[in-house]
Amino acid sequence: MNSIILLDDQIRHLLAHLLTKDNQPLINWMTSLKIEDGNVMIIYECRPDEAAEIDLLRQKAETSIKGLATVTQVRSVLTTQRPLLKTPQKPQEPASLPTVRQIFAIASGKGGVGKSTTAANLAIAFSQSGRKVGLLDADVYGPSLPRLFSITDKPDVTADKKLVPIFRHGIYCMSIGFMVGEETPMIWRGPMVHGALQQMLKDVAWPELDMLIVDMPPGTGDAHLTLCQQVKLDGAVIVSTPQDIALIDARRGLHMFRRVQVPVLGIIENMSQFNCPNCGHVSDIFSHGGAQNEAGKLGIPFLGEIPIDLSIRLHSDQGTPITVTEPDSIVAGIYRDIGQKIINTLKVL
Ligand SMILES: Nc1ncnc2c1ncn2[C@@H]1O[C@H](COP(=O)(O)OP(=O)(O)OP(=O)(O)O)[C@@H](O)[C@H]1O
Ligand SMILES: [Mg+2]
Repeated sequence: MNSIILLDDQIRHLLAHLLTKDNQPLINWMTSLKIEDGNVMIIYECRPDEAAEIDLLRQKAETSIKGLATVTQVRSVLTTQRPLLKTPQKPQEPASLPTVRQIFAIASGKGGVGKSTTAANLAIAFSQSGRKVGLLDADVYGPSLPRLFSITDKPDVTADKKLVPIFRHGIYCMSIGFMVGEETPMIWRGPMVHGALQQMLKDVAWPELDMLIVDMPPGTGDAHLTLCQQVKLDGAVIVSTPQDIALIDARRGLHMFRRVQVPVLGIIENMSQFNCPNCGHVSDIFSHGGAQNEAGKLGIPFLGEIPIDLSIRLHSDQGTPITVTEPDSIVAGIYRDIGQKIINTLKVL
């Protein structure tokens, strides 16, 4: 397993350093990398007009990968067939939201790494430092804002048919979960993805906001592309747990944002070390330091690490995040520090 991860790393590193004339790394076009007993299979996808240039890079990459120790065979294919990726061919200019100064996404490749918890606590930390903040739960399959902020009300609708965000814990909130019950089947939500996201971005009466934080669904699928193409994101923050497998997914997320030209503001390591409240022993339950290493390798800022902390989960489950209930705790301070680093990276606020 470790040698596969090492080889995966080496290949990604190599593809990140093969550049097009516009200085875009070849890895931005990679959609699949499979390694089995030294056999490497890579799929790239591009627009038809990019094919000649990308194919030359593909061949170069294939030669270099063949030279890596432990590689026995390399196959790589370039396709221009998939309709989803044809969309960026003529990118529709993403819209800005007139009342919002900055929009950034909190994302990850893998599910359950703590995006929503981090997004909620960061939103509160920003608001505690005097900023007007909105929080959009873009997870139409599994919205979590109703539970995280204990919101059961339905949003009001203005005379011009816009949804009014619900104000809770100092944050202007919107989630499809405010309109659709938790028990609504996924199958019904599926076709709503595009329409619902569009509606939640543009058909919401967002007040004047310093920032809107978008809590993304897990993965790098349709919902992400829709979001990135419809609204001008000023940046994305990647949340990852420290262990290798989650980092591989985080990398996928990173490359997706790069592909759609959204700047990646940095990586947060969540569920980092566990500091036992009884004996003070520190244990690395999901390993430790992986995200910082990865940030260094990928040349993006490391924003900080949030420990595994029982109070984070308990307060989230009760609908009153730890930054609200224990603003003076060490953990609340960590969220504030990370928030400050994000502000420094965004530079504008
Ligand atoms: N640092 C932490 N310490 C302890 N528990 C945490 C921490 N971060 C998140 N959790 C808990 O982990 C679980 C998953 O968190 P969360 O829902 O925020 O993840 P997510 O990445 O948004 O998930 P999904 O991919 O399903 O949207 C929740 O029960 C949350 O309370
Ligand atoms: Mg979530």
